[in-house]
Amino acid sequence: MINKIAVLTSGGDSPGMNAAIRAVVRTGIYHNLEVIGVHSGYQGLLEKELLPLNLKSVGGIMQHGGTLLMTSRSEEFKTKSGVKKAAKILRESQVDVLVVIGGDGSMAGALDLYQLEGFPVICLPATIDNDLYGTDMCIGVDTALNTVISAIDKIKDTASSHRRAFIIEVMGRNCGYLALMSGIAGGVEYVIVPEFPVNLKDVSNKLKKGYQRGKSHCIVLVAEGAGDVYDIGKFMEDKIGFEMRVTVLGYLQRGGFPSAFDRIIASRLGSAAVEQLLKKNDHHMIGLLGNEIKTIPLAEVLSQKNKLRKSMYELANILAQ
Ligand code: F6P
Repeated sequence: MINKIAVLTSGGDSPGMNAAIRAVVRTGIYHNLEVIGVHSGYQGLLEKELLPLNLKSVGGIMQHGGTLLMTSRSEEFKTKSGVKKAAKILRESQVDVLVVIGGDGSMAGALDLYQLEGFPVICLPATIDNDLYGTDMCIGVDTALNTVISAIDKIKDTASSHRRAFIIEVMGRNCGYLALMSGIAGGVEYVIVPEFPVNLKDVSNKLKKGYQRGKSHCIVLVAEGAGDVYDIGKFMEDKIGFEMRVTVLGYLQRGGFPSAFDRIIASRLGSAAVEQLLKKNDHHMIGLLGNEIKTIPLAEVLSQKNKLRKSMYELANILAQ
C-alpha cells in the first residue's frame, strides 16, 4: 500500500522540470497520497532536506525554467554507503516510493537505490541532451532546440552582414541530438556530431565552395562532444581563408520558459508516473514513444543509448547544400 511519495530533480536542470513536479504532486494528491519534495537532488536527500508539498506549493511554477526543488550532482550518492544512507532516510521518513526527474546519471542513481537497497523508484526523463534510450523526447529538449535556433537566426544576421563564417558550439555531452536537430531547423551549412566523424578538410572545402557560389554566410554547428570548437575553428579558418568566429552557447541552452510541448509532455509523464507507481510498476522510466506514454524498466533504459538516426544526419547534409 502506497501512502507517501517523494519527488526530486537531479543532474542538469531542464525546462519543463517544474511542470513535471507539479504533475506528480497534483496527481499524487488526487489519489490521496502524501507528497513531499526533496530539495537539491540526491545531495539534499543525504542531508535530509525534505519539505511537504501541497496543491498550492506547485501553483504558478509551470512557466518557469529551472526547478523549484533545486538540483545537484552528488558525488556522495555515487557511493554504496551514500545509497544506503539515502534509503535509510527515505524509510525513516515513511516514504514509499521516490520519483526521480533527471537524466541518465540520475536514473543510474535511482537504479542503485532499487537494486542495492530494494527501495522503489520511478523516473521521468528530463535532460536537454536527449540521450536516453526508451523515450523519443526528454523533458526540456524542445525548449532547448528553440533556444538554439533563435541563436542561429541571430548569428545569421551578423554573419551575412560581414560575410563571415561562424562556428556555434551546442551542448549535449556525448550526444549530437541537439546539434543535429537544431542544425536542420536552423538551416546551417554543416553539423559536426560525435556519432558521425567528419574530415575537417572536406568540411572546409564545402564551405569554401559555398562562398565561391556567392553564399553570404556560413554557420557550422558543433556538438560539444565532437571536439574542441576553437581548434576546429582555427583549422577551418586556415583552410578556407575566411575569418571564423566562435560562439559557445553554453548554459543559456538550459534556461528559459518551457515550450508548450515541454509543459505538455512533462504533465503527461509526471501524471503517468504516479498512475504507474500505484500499479506497483516501480523501477521503471516513463517515456514518450510515438506520442504514447510507455513504461520501460530502468535497467533496460540504462543498458542502451539513444541512437542518432543516420537518416536525420543525411537529411541535414542534403538540405544544407
Ligand atoms: O546534461 C546536461 C548538460 O547541460 C550537458 O549538455 C552538459 O555537457 C552538462 O550538462 C554540463 O554539466 P554541468 O551542469 O555539470 O556543468
